[in-house]
Amino acid sequence: MITIKNAHQLEAMRQACKITAAARALAGEMVRPGVTTRQIDKAVHDFIVSQGAKPSFLNYSGYPASACISVNSTVIHGIPSDYALREGDIVSVDVGAYYKGFHGDCAATFPCGAISAEAQRLIDVTKQSFFEGLAFVRPGHRVSDISHAIQSYVESNGYSVVRAFVGHGVGAQLHEEPEVPNFGAPGHGPRLLPGMTLAIEPMVNMGTYQVHVLKDRWTTVTADGKLSAHYENTVLITDGEPEILTVAEGL
Ligand code: MF3
Ligand code: CO
Repeated sequence: MITIKNAHQLEAMRQACKITAAARALAGEMVRPGVTTRQIDKAVHDFIVSQGAKPSFLNYSGYPASACISVNSTVIHGIPSDYALREGDIVSVDVGAYYKGFHGDCAATFPCGAISAEAQRLIDVTKQSFFEGLAFVRPGHRVSDISHAIQSYVESNGYSVVRAFVGHGVGAQLHEEPEVPNFGAPGHGPRLLPGMTLAIEPMVNMGTYQVHVLKDRWTTVTADGKLSAHYENTVLITDGEPEILTVAEGL
């Protein structure tokens, strides 16, 4: 079942998403050579708690941290560690916060110091692919219209979209129906209706779309060792323009 949020629920969700977006921004500001991914995770954790919220990912299916921090060829679910970031790394940070009964979920890839032009282009194409999908986040369209727009844009830029992980509905649960793939033919899947909230999250690889999950059962890396980037926002379907809920303004 796809949940439709009422005005009261959406107000709580906006607040959860604002905290989540501020945590993403805070993490992004910390990305620089020498900082460990564990230090960033701690700052994310402490910030979310300071807002009276709970980190959505901590202990979710046994996940051991508050943020996923995925460097270079790690696609998603990188576990924070003593790894110290190096100049030229690209660093994907995924965060979630639970507040007043609702989750926010968002991610972005940040450059560590000076990065290669190719790496920057991967980050830019990944972010823009989210906005290509967002153009279809309206009543009258169906879920796979979003998927198709993302895939077409990514592939026309010479990159590939991860197939093994997808976006999702989000709300009282971190993962709700429907699944929102970043690939597929248009015109399929549920019809979009006002009050639905989706986490749209393209994961884009420079080479093959294939990924491997490491023995820790979380860390997901590209099969060919090439770079990967991630961009995610929680969005609300309205009668008109979609509303990006994971914006940090005013916090
Ligand atoms: N944004 C990711 C997702 O929606 C992060 C989940 S990490 C987990 O699935 F630890 F919570 F699983
Ligand atoms: Co998500």
